[in-house]
Amino acid sequence: MTKFIFFLVTILSLLSSSIFASENIKKRQDAMQTVRNSMKILGPMAMGKKDFDSSLAKNTLKDFLIAIKPYKTYFPKVPSEEQKTDASLDIWSNKEDFNKLINNFVSTVELASKNKWENTEQFKSDFMEIGSSCKSCHRKYRR
Ligand code: HEC
Repeated sequence: MTKFIFFLVTILSLLSSSIFASENIKKRQDAMQTVRNSMKILGPMAMGKKDFDSSLAKNTLKDFLIAIKPYKTYFPKVPSEEQKTDASLDIWSNKEDFNKLINNFVSTVELASKNKWENTEQFKSDFMEIGSSCKSCHRKYRR
């Protein structure tokens, strides 16, 4: 009986830890989807392809910021082979560098979200700054 209970507990804890890990993968992918959708709204405005709407830009940046603020916490464990993730294993061997990139990313978006743009040029400069963060992180840490 004791053996059986021990067996059960082991199975359950293995199961919950893998569900927990997958949940984090889902959270970080969802966050990046919000990021992508935000960029799709901000981009055409920054490039003059859509009329600049300051309040739409503000609201979009607000959602963007909410999505990425907890991003750092979505990488608790190295993923197992069978988990579907594009996160590079280098994240776990360079956690400090990776976290620094996230901090910079968050503060860039935060600064932009507080900006009061007087014209599209000023907004474009914020947009370009945010856009350059994507590549610098993906190049290193996305498979
Ligand atoms: C600090 C690092 C970092 C920054 C900055 C970053 N990303 Fe990512 N991104 C990642 C990682 C890591 C993944 C893979 C996550 C996974 O699959 O577990 C990813 C995945 C994605 C995905 C795929 C999500 C999915 O559904 O699988 C998209 C889209 C994306 N990023 C867009 C962007 C855009 C656009 C920017 C810039 C505005 C950006 N990212 C900035 C690290 C970053």
